[in-house]
Amino acid sequence: MPTFKIAVLPGDGVGIEVVAEGCRVLRASARRERDLQLAFRSFGWGSAYYRKHGRMMPAGALDTLREFDAIYLGAVGDPGVPDHVTLHGMLFPIRRDFDQYVNLRPAYLFPGAPTPLRDKAPGSIDMLVVRENTEGEYADVGGRLARGGRAAVAVQANVFTWEGTERVVRYAFEAARKRRRHLTSVTKSNALAHSMVFWDEVVRCVAREYPDVTTRSMLVDAACMNVVRKPEDFDVVVASNLFGDILTDLSAAIVGGMGLAPAANLNPSRQYPSMFEPVHGSAPDIAGKGIVNPIAAILTGAMMLDFLGARRAAGRIRKAVGAVLAAGATRTPDLGGASRTREVTEAVLGAL
Ligand code: NAD
Ligand code: IPM
Ligand code: MN
Repeated sequence: MPTFKIAVLPGDGVGIEVVAEGCRVLRASARRERDLQLAFRSFGWGSAYYRKHGRMMPAGALDTLREFDAIYLGAVGDPGVPDHVTLHGMLFPIRRDFDQYVNLRPAYLFPGAPTPLRDKAPGSIDMLVVRENTEGEYADVGGRLARGGRAAVAVQANVFTWEGTERVVRYAFEAARKRRRHLTSVTKSNALAHSMVFWDEVVRCVAREYPDVTTRSMLVDAACMNVVRKPEDFDVVVASNLFGDILTDLSAAIVGGMGLAPAANLNPSRQYPSMFEPVHGSAPDIAGKGIVNPIAAILTGAMMLDFLGARRAAGRIRKAVGAVLAAGATRTPDLGGASRTREVTEAVLGAL
């Protein structure tokens, strides 16, 4: 295996804390493999950089990142800078310019993970949300028609292209084929007669190529209810950008919370680097206290190794996390414990 070059973007708030812990685990897991080399280079971009330079990343940042095999990101968001400025200055340019059209968000109930749902056996919740990540409701098309007062008008357009929809739906069907062969397409075609009727058409069209996968269509409001009511009925879920965003806070919540939820922004063609970041944000309410749960970032690191082809190392990290959660002795406050961030990492390193 070659040496993989990883660009590390800690970003803001707890992003900085969890990425440091994730890198410790990645380094340790690489040392355990004979042929896995990881070379990290960290970039101090984000809201602190913005305060100094008036932008989130330097000009040419994307050219710099393009040379890497993968990007490992913490979180972006600072209470002192408007979110739309920080995110449109850093997160979205990377997702979009690197055509990371799949946002992969697994939700798996580990033994010992505190689910708020009653009577759920470990492993009984095992869903994989495939979120469209470059267009749809996040297309960033729109504007203000009149400014000021009660005459003000804001327009935010949704953009759904056939190609953009088809490729993410196809990715989801392929993923379903490698799992339990069951796909739920999340829609809202009862109300959104243009975008979501179109979405359904694409899904039906691609589904014909996958007769071995059971496909169902579910309205997003019903999907929210059923993810809570009958989560075991979900295998692969494919959803538009915004629906997928919302559903994955919910799917994270039912398997133990944001502290455990990993994610990957994938450019499946591998023309550009993919970016790996936990589902959670910069969590300003607990930033700097040393109590953030690093497990989401650690599992995100495992997703990165998987995508790079280091499957054994990825599997070992997941197993180590599973062992720590099952033992239950080392938990940050979000999981009901009193451990510190570093103690959780050390427990994972011990299990590794
Ligand atoms: P958040 O995910 O940062 O936090 C929500 C709640 O979950 C908070 O109470 C937080 O303490 C808790 N939490 C989150 N991650 C945790 C962890 N690893 N361990 C323990 N507790 C954890 O969401 P928010 O508060 O809505 O957003 C905060 C900022 O982050 C905003 O600026 C938002 O725009 C940004 N954000 C960024 C990303 C990203 O960069 N990918 C994702 C989501 C939100
Ligand atoms: C996520 C986040 C982002 C999103 C925000 C911070 C813009 O919530 O990655 O889930 O909506 O994509
Ligand atoms: Mn989100």
